Amino acid sequence: MEKITISVPVESYTYAELTPQQSELVEMARQYTSNSYAPYSHFRVGAAIRLDNGVIVCGANQENVAYPSGTCAERSACFAAGAQYPGVAFRAIAIASVGTDGQVPNTPTAPCGACRQALLEYETLAGANVEVLLAGRDKVYVLPSVKSLLPLAFSEF
Ligand code: THU
Repeated sequence: MEKITISVPVESYTYAELTPQQSELVEMARQYTSNSYAPYSHFRVGAAIRLDNGVIVCGANQENVAYPSGTCAERSACFAAGAQYPGVAFRAIAIASVGTDGQVPNTPTAPCGACRQALLEYETLAGANVEVLLAGRDKVYVLPSVKSLLPLAFSEF
């Protein structure tokens, strides 16, 4: 038997430490929490994806009374980017949230498993890492790729 430990590399930055490009993307994600339609969970999430062509495509979670029909902010943004700019690589994604108490959570919100899988496919097909920025109240977690967020991923495509 051999024990294998897989670790997730996370860097934690203050807002002041971000580059101007990172700050811009995080700010877009924060703004898009206002476009969330979350009458059931009251948990608002915004996502902003910077594409290789410089365009930023944003999304917000969209719920539905038939609960599974809704979608997360991350998939709303990544499917919009795929539809509007097919084949253009993602450079980075920022994710921001506002909790049910109306406050930005102290611990940054991380994408659900389904969103990680969806994002991974775009990252893998483009063959370039997508930086992941998770915006909390005082800190932003930065990960080098979607792959790093989804160890032991299903990637048979
Ligand atoms: N949600 C997102 O949009 N992204 C995440 O990373 C986590 C969860 C949404 C789904 C649902 O509309 C609400 O947040 C509560 O789970």
